[in-house]
Amino acid sequence: MPLVTRVTDLIGRTPLFELAVTDSGTRLLLKLEQFNPTGAAKIRMAREMVLDAERRGLLEVGGHIIESTSGNTGLGLAVVAAERGYRFTAVVDNHACKDKLRAMRAMGAELVFVADDGDDDLATSAREDLAAAMVAGQAGAYFTEQHNNDANAVGYYPVAEELLADVERVDILLSAVGTGGSLFGTATRLRELGCPARVIGVEPVGSIAFGGPGGPYWQSGTGTPPGATIGTAVDYSLLDEGVKVSDVDAFATARAVAAELGLMIGGSAGGSVFVGLERLEQFPPGSTVVTIVCDGGEKYLDTVFDDRWMGERELLDPAAEERVRAMVRRYAPATRRTDLADAR
Ligand SMILES: Cc1ncc(COP(=O)(O)O)c(C=O)c1O
Repeated sequence: MPLVTRVTDLIGRTPLFELAVTDSGTRLLLKLEQFNPTGAAKIRMAREMVLDAERRGLLEVGGHIIESTSGNTGLGLAVVAAERGYRFTAVVDNHACKDKLRAMRAMGAELVFVADDGDDDLATSAREDLAAAMVAGQAGAYFTEQHNNDANAVGYYPVAEELLADVERVDILLSAVGTGGSLFGTATRLRELGCPARVIGVEPVGSIAFGGPGGPYWQSGTGTPPGATIGTAVDYSLLDEGVKVSDVDAFATARAVAAELGLMIGGSAGGSVFVGLERLEQFPPGSTVVTIVCDGGEKYLDTVFDDRWMGERELLDPAAEERVRAMVRRYAPATRRTDLADAR
C-alpha cells in the first residue's frame, strides 16, 4: 500500500468475503464496502459526482454542494467537500441514523432538516424538493441530485474492475437498490468487461421500485418510499429480477451474521444477504454470486442491533435469526470449518 495524502485515496480495493458455499460449488461472496472511508460504498459515487461537476464546469472554486441524503451519500460528500474546499449542505430527515448526521457535522457539513425533532419518517421526496429549491435561489450552488446523476453509477465502475481482479467471473450480482447506482453501475461495467452477470435487485417490502404496494420500512439508505420518484440511476433494462425483503428478515440476517461470524453488516446488506442465502441452492451449480455490502453494522448499534429499539417496532424475531445462523453454518466454506475444528 503506497503512502496516501488524501482520504479519498483510500477509496476502493475493498475485500471480498466468502460467506457461503453449497455442495454444488455455488458461492455467495460479499464485497465489503464498509472498508471504504466513511464505512460505506457511497463515497465512491460522491467523489465521482463532484469530479464530474468540476469537469463540466458546474462547480466553481469554493462553490456550494447541496444534496438530499439519508446519510452515507452525505458522509461521502462531506469528505470530498472538505478535501476540495467546497461548502456542503446536506438536506436530511430524522429517519437517518444519528451517528451519520453527527459525523457529517464533524466533517464540516451543514445540516438542514425537512422535519421536526421526533418526526422520524423517511422524507425522501420532501428532501429532494427542498434541495432543488435551495439551489434555484443561489449562485455558485450545485445540487448533485444522486437519483438522476449519471456519475452516480459511474462511481461504481471500479467495483466491477476490483471484482474481476479477485474472481474469474461474476454470474449473479444481487444487491440493494436505493438510487440504483451501486447495483446498475457495477452491472454496467461488468458487461463492458465481458462479464454480463444476472442482475437481481433487492428492495424493502414497502418500497416501490419493483411495484407496490408502498408502505413504511426501516431499512436505511435503500429502497424508494411511496411518493418518491424513481430516478434514472435505476436502470430497468439491466434488471433481471426485483425481489422484496421484509425488515424482519433483513435485520435478522444482519444480526445473525454478526453473532455467527463477528462480521457487522448494515440492515440493507442484511436484506440482500438474506435473499442470497435463501436462493443459493436454486442458482445453477458452481455459480459465483456477489452481494455488495453497502455499509457496516456499526452504524446501526442504536437500531438493528438494539433489542429494545427492535422490540418496540416488533422487528425482533429470534427464530428468524436462528434460521439464518443455521444457513450460515450449513454453507460454511471448508477453510472456515477446518479452522474451527482445529481451534477445538
Ligand atoms: C446503507 C445502504 N443501503 C443501500 C445502498 C444502495 O444504494 P444505491 O442503490 O443508491 O446505490 C447504499 C448505497 O451505497 C447504502 O449506503
